Amino acid sequence: MAGAERVRVGVIGLGIGKNHAKRFAENPRAELVALADLNPALLTEWGDTLKVDPARRHASGEELIAAGGLDAVCVATPNKFHAPLTEAALEAGLHVVCEKPMAMTVAEARSMRDAARTAGRNLMINFSFRFSDMSFALKQQVDAGTIGPIYFGRTVWHRRRGIPKFGGWFGNRELSGGGPLIDLGVHRMDLALWLMGHPQPVNVCGATYDVIGRRLASEQDKHFSVEDLACGIIRFANGAALLVEASWAVHNQHPEEMITQLYGERGGLVQRNLEGTYKFEAELYTEEGGNFFTKRLDKALKPAPASMDEFIASILEDRPPLATADDGVRVQQIINALYESAATGREVRIEP
Ligand SMILES: NC(=O)c1ccc[n+]([C@@H]2O[C@H](COP(=O)([O-])OP(=O)(O)OC[C@H]3O[C@@H](n4cnc5c(N)ncnc54)[C@H](O)[C@@H]3O)[C@@H](O)[C@H]2O)c1
Repeated sequence: MAGAERVRVGVIGLGIGKNHAKRFAENPRAELVALADLNPALLTEWGDTLKVDPARRHASGEELIAAGGLDAVCVATPNKFHAPLTEAALEAGLHVVCEKPMAMTVAEARSMRDAARTAGRNLMINFSFRFSDMSFALKQQVDAGTIGPIYFGRTVWHRRRGIPKFGGWFGNRELSGGGPLIDLGVHRMDLALWLMGHPQPVNVCGATYDVIGRRLASEQDKHFSVEDLACGIIRFANGAALLVEASWAVHNQHPEEMITQLYGERGGLVQRNLEGTYKFEAELYTEEGGNFFTKRLDKALKPAPASMDEFIASILEDRPPLATADDGVRVQQIINALYESAATGREVRIEP
């Protein structure tokens, strides 16, 4: 779309999607044209707030796509609908930004990626934890060689209690594809893989548990058919290994614990949240002239784009977005291999 002034966008799903709709409405390079949600109250509330023409407030994502008049859509529905809506939009010639996780299965993720290639349209996955000034500053350090080649890491998101919308779609395997691994672990894995330069995963060994979720579901008579904790080790073709841990409910100190630690040949890095909050700190550990140094990031001076702004920029600049469908497929391969490993008790190979 080089030369075009503004990208006409529709947003499907107004949970987290309402934030994306707001961002498009604020972006001078985008025009928020249409909204869709199955819930009419949400549609009216956000249609009115964001001044969307009532004729462009649609009762489903399928209807929004069929109505035309758009260049791009944002898919922010429960996970089960990511693949069908993304493919329908790509087939209609639209660029797509799809929420994480990309899909529920590797077959779906590959099919979405291939549909984008065939359509010649951008497919971005909203791995939003990359899009912070701090994450960009760390990536800059890694790319500059400060910590050298990375051979080991640990990437974690634990919640003491925080099963999203307990009893709803997040805890229903048919609609979500899994629990905290596919919901939270996906973010921390993407961040680690991005910093590591996207090595090719070759095998995964993992375990999952549902001890607390199952008990709470039984006490409160709610549906819960996914794990409440997942852990595993991923090995890569370049010899590196990454530990992943994710939970929605675990007996831990803080309400939220997020940490990504990477160890390289010349140094290490950590990005962690502070005291259970969504505020983060970052440090680098190096050895220079026979001495150990700790470097704390005081302030990242280069602003990172918001992920939805990056999506719009990638379309107008005719270039791939920063978080691609290939990145989504790779994370999906790891997630599904870890689930398979947990179910079978065996290491699972990942084919490139
Ligand atoms: N990147 C992030 O940090 C982040 C944060 C939150 C959620 N998410 C992801 O966003 C997605 C949505 O999560 P949520 O928390 O907003 O869920 P939600 O349940 O709050 O909202 C989903 C909305 O989609 C609507 N919907 C369902 N099917 C639809 C269809 N066919 N057409 C139109 N609307 C439809 C529902 O009515 C609902 O309002 C999930 O994939 C989740 O993993 C990502």
